[in-house]
Amino acid sequence: MRVTVIGTGHVGLVTCATLAELGHRVVGTDSNPERIDLLRRGAAPFFEPGLESLVSKGIDTGGLSFTSDSAEAVRDAEVIFICVGTPPRASGEASLVAVEKAAAQAAAHATPPCVVVEKSTVPAGTAVRVGRTLRRVRPDDGHDLEVVSNPEFLREGKAVRDSLEPDRVLVGAESPRAFATMRRLYSPLIDKGCTWIETDIATAELAKHACNAFLALKISYANALARLCERSGADVVAVANVMGADARIGPHFLGAGLGYGGYCFPKDLQAFERLASRLGYDFPLLKEIARINDEAVEAAADKIIDALWNLEDKRIALLGLSFKPGTDDVRFAPSLALARRLAEEGAAVVGYDPHAQAEAKAEMPELEIAPDPYEAATGSDCLVLCSEWEQFRSLDLARIKGLMNYPVLVDGRNFFDPQEMRAAGFTYYPTGRPRVD
Ligand code: UGA
Repeated sequence: MRVTVIGTGHVGLVTCATLAELGHRVVGTDSNPERIDLLRRGAAPFFEPGLESLVSKGIDTGGLSFTSDSAEAVRDAEVIFICVGTPPRASGEASLVAVEKAAAQAAAHATPPCVVVEKSTVPAGTAVRVGRTLRRVRPDDGHDLEVVSNPEFLREGKAVRDSLEPDRVLVGAESPRAFATMRRLYSPLIDKGCTWIETDIATAELAKHACNAFLALKISYANALARLCERSGADVVAVANVMGADARIGPHFLGAGLGYGGYCFPKDLQAFERLASRLGYDFPLLKEIARINDEAVEAAADKIIDALWNLEDKRIALLGLSFKPGTDDVRFAPSLALARRLAEEGAAVVGYDPHAQAEAKAEMPELEIAPDPYEAATGSDCLVLCSEWEQFRSLDLARIKGLMNYPVLVDGRNFFDPQEMRAAGFTYYPTGRPRVD
């Protein structure tokens, strides 16, 4: 099928590359001409495992192309994806300015009949506005441009796999023709047995926010338990194991630590809360999830202060700066929230990350960046594990200990084994588990 993707950020570019991989003819367009130049050369503008090779492959086989001419991009498309950003406004509400612009662009140049698919995360009710925009721009044949909601469930760092082997594909639409178009688009996945869910549009839009808020709820529940475990001597990892063994609860997203970050959970939770409030429903649980998440960073700072007393003139090293492993994304990263908090207390903060060094420096220029974990540890008074990159498993702990002023390790992801830390001679502060001296 002929597919156009408007917006080549994380979601848009993964959509481009994976739909080309499924055999469609995909054109990606973006308002940023430098990004289009980069993509035409087969380079990805951010780190996402497996994406760059898929983009190059798509370009080489002719299934994938990029243009900054949005009119040319949408002209022959049967399916037009809107994958533009929906950043938070000061109120917490999602800004839908780029969505409206993309809808108007699609309507101005599309050749009906075709479907216009919302893939960006948007509040329930957005499709109605998108539909109105399409009909405003095309008063005569706008009804042949149908709106569909097809929320993404991609995790950064695993986005290519999540797209090619999804848990489920959700499509919200109003007409049999629109559903049939989307089934044709995703037939390679449906043929492989992927769960296919059809709903009305408002349900699909709301379900996306409901999923992200529920995942964030599980994490905050685990973090609140961690605070209780720290006060009672219980072990949150063991508690989460017991909970996870109940099939009704499930083992995932019960990892206590520094909390969630990234460009999805924090902003989606706020946007969902604003939507509820606009609809006249008070949903304080959503605010509470965010409050507990903020508290997780504060709890880590308290441990560091407990270990080091005053932070003035102390050097603290952070390992892992991206909001989670497998990505160079530092947006709303707990590591940087912690770094700012420690800097406020007068500490010198140094960080190391396998992929997000430049991004972290751009976000927080006063952060010192070390070229490797050992340089970061050199002369430091405390080491904090902020995101659990697998390569930290093979750290030479004896060497690290020898380089530090004091062997204090705060584990913001419960990544290390307490017994190994004891054997290595660290004062070890895990999250929600007994301290090891
Ligand atoms: C999340 C969802 O998992 C995706 O399904 C969704 O499509 C995406 O948002 C989106 O809306 O675009 P993502 O933000 O990439 O994906 O990252 P996650 O893997 O969900 O992790 C989010 C945060 O939660 C990370 O900071 C991670 O460290 C933290 N986390 C995760 C925990 O603190 N504990 C856990 O047990 C699991």
